[in-house]
Amino acid sequence: MDSRNHSLADFIKVEDADIMERARLFKEFSTDLAERGHALHRRVSLDGSSPLMKVKDRYTGEVKEMVYLASNDYLNLTKHPRTIAAGKAALEKYGSGAGSVPLLGGTLDIHIELEKKVAKFKGCESAIIYTSGFGSNCGTLLSMLGENDIAVLDMFVHASIIDGCKNTNTKFFRHNDMKSLEHALTRVKDNYRTKFIVVDGVYSMDGDIAHLDKIVELARAYGAYVMVDEAHASGVIGETGRGTPQHFNIEGKVDVVAGTFSKALGSVGGFIAAKEELIELLHFYSRPYMFSTAMTPQSAGSLIASMEVIEEEPQLREALWSNIKYFKENLINLGFNLGESQTAIFPIIIGDDFKVKDMSRRLHEMNIYVNPVVYPAVPKKSARIRMSIMSAHTKEHLDKALNALEIVGKEYNII
Ligand SMILES: Cc1ncc(COP(=O)(O)O)c(C=O)c1O
Repeated sequence: MDSRNHSLADFIKVEDADIMERARLFKEFSTDLAERGHALHRRVSLDGSSPLMKVKDRYTGEVKEMVYLASNDYLNLTKHPRTIAAGKAALEKYGSGAGSVPLLGGTLDIHIELEKKVAKFKGCESAIIYTSGFGSNCGTLLSMLGENDIAVLDMFVHASIIDGCKNTNTKFFRHNDMKSLEHALTRVKDNYRTKFIVVDGVYSMDGDIAHLDKIVELARAYGAYVMVDEAHASGVIGETGRGTPQHFNIEGKVDVVAGTFSKALGSVGGFIAAKEELIELLHFYSRPYMFSTAMTPQSAGSLIASMEVIEEEPQLREALWSNIKYFKENLINLGFNLGESQTAIFPIIIGDDFKVKDMSRRLHEMNIYVNPVVYPAVPKKSARIRMSIMSAHTKEHLDKALNALEIVGKEYNII
């Protein structure tokens, strides 16, 4: 099979093929990708998220030291001495697991401390914590919205939000387009019980920021609630890193603030911060919370420390923003199209899926770790090389990446 003629979308359903036949066909596709040097998924790291990361090359078997431009660990808190020490202390005190689901014995005092910290960090009455951000978004939406309700969604929201809206009505508006949102709201009939506008604070494939202030205004005008997914915003935007509501000075005005612990907060898990009554409802109706064992004590301990570091060490966020400015200016000077990127996520928008995969292969060979992002992860003809940077990248790391990008950009006539 020639992988150039196919995308992942072709294998979601294969006409008349049972699951084993579908898997066999997919294997042909992935084998062709590998033969072209385009199998860049599941690259194996030997030392975890760091600006220069040791990666075992699946093609050559060699251990490469790569400039790692694909981490969401924006503030490098996965390896901060305080998060490591706090995680170790919690592991020693409580053991390696919580032992049960949160409602039936798995809730530890360290989980309650983390919930309180999250609620305070997000300026909300209360918070609930989950073992993944995917589960918190999906479980919360599934438990809030049913067949008599409607979700009005930005067309680029994360997959966990789309999956969470499977049991309700949906209407999509054009990405970050307030006219399109208003148009969608005017067409939503009044007979829905609950209307929710759901957006990401920072969009994961584009790095742009939702117009959350205008979204909240429109929601008030049309009788809707607002939920924002702060996955890529927490720790990164807002004066003290509290995310998109702080960035727009509207803290306390967003009905449901969702987020993940897996990105700038440097661990794993997710949260929802909202009114105390809504959080209590989620305890009993959100299935990924009710029916899943509570977060590991080590994660909870590390996360409490992460939030303290974010508050007490603003120099980390300052270093990140200095890197963002430097990298962005240089990429623009080289002539790359970065779309609407405003944060630590940099898409180089190219359009052609094959070029994106091949350029990423070349960059891999030059020890620059980027990810190719093609359809269906992004719309057709908007394939891109996706990069993200961290506070611990040095100018030397970023220059190495810029030099390689310049060489490859010229080879493929992008710049
Ligand atoms: C915007 C967004 N929301 C939610 C998630 C899910 O979070 P988690 O990785 O904690 O499951 C992710 C990413 O991984 C994301 O990018």
